[in-house]
Amino acid sequence: MRTEHVRIYEVGPRDGLQNESTILPLATKAAFIGLLADAGLREIEATSFVSPRAIPQLADADVLMTSLDRRPGVRYPVLVPNMRGLTRAEAAGIDAVAVFTAATDAFTQANIGMSVTESLAAFAPVLERATKLGWWRRGYVSTAFGCPYDGRVDPGRAVDVAVRLLDLGMDEVCFGDTIGVGVPGQVAGLTGLAVDAGIPLDRIAFHFHDTRGTALANVSAGLDAGIRCFDSSTGGTGGCPYAPGAAGNLATEDLVYFLDASGWDHGVSLDGVLQAAKFISDALGRPLTSKVGQAGGWPPA
Ligand code: COA
Ligand code: ZN
Repeated sequence: MRTEHVRIYEVGPRDGLQNESTILPLATKAAFIGLLADAGLREIEATSFVSPRAIPQLADADVLMTSLDRRPGVRYPVLVPNMRGLTRAEAAGIDAVAVFTAATDAFTQANIGMSVTESLAAFAPVLERATKLGWWRRGYVSTAFGCPYDGRVDPGRAVDVAVRLLDLGMDEVCFGDTIGVGVPGQVAGLTGLAVDAGIPLDRIAFHFHDTRGTALANVSAGLDAGIRCFDSSTGGTGGCPYAPGAAGNLATEDLVYFLDASGWDHGVSLDGVLQAAKFISDALGRPLTSKVGQAGGWPPA
């Protein structure tokens, strides 16, 4: 076993479910989040305090978070796009928040109706308040490798946005491969540029999508480059169930298998994650698409 710890940051309840066409009942979401905590996940991005018109799948965020059985030692960050979202989060007793922008204006405009610079201006009072409240704070840089509107993204642009986010008072920045186009060499390159720009390795996370099958290879490159936090979604939710091969987030079960077999310490039980994955795929009414979800684990002993 390696001595260094790898953080698995679970995004299934938020990034996964926001992209599913089925809107699940609140009790199902709460049960899913409970199973994720049972599996040993200690960071579970639970929901979004965004416009319910933008993301109807997560419109129940306020009730979900006020009624949720929050376990001691588990962080439940929520996504917040503006002060309105922060006020809602505060009322729900949240203590960890994530804001989200991107490396490209075109994507940010489509996602939250602002340019990157406008989004950073909108986040400033959000971060000021969250910092005052002592909350944990994360900032996403989406489209860090490629943009559905702008094509290939210069890594320098992603790093520039990350630096500006950290200047607002972030604990961590997370580079997102939103459309799953990145490859290992780019992960190493982006990490190197970020470190050159003064960002400490322990304040960088990566969020890979397995759209083109490169997510675990990218995790491996990230580990080699010194990154110790990776996002994943139990059940691999977030893909389009009607487009064969269009996988979504890296599945937590695939990540856990890979880390276990490679000897990394992370504290998450594969069996527990597989139970949660089965639960959520049944709730969504479709078979598991993740590799390990289909094949199961493999105890070499
Ligand atoms: N929570 C709830 N409602 C909100 C809100 C929040 N945080 N922020 C804005 N709203 C409401 C407004 O009250 C308004 O409602 P109304 O039309 O009934 O009056 C509506 O949403 C639009 O607000 P507006 O300020 O005009 O902003 P907009 O239409 O440009 O939308 C965002 C901006 C950021 C609120 C919206 O684009 C959004 O929530 N996007 C989230 C996208 C997302 O989560 N993507 C996935 C994450 S990667
Ligand atoms: Zn994602």
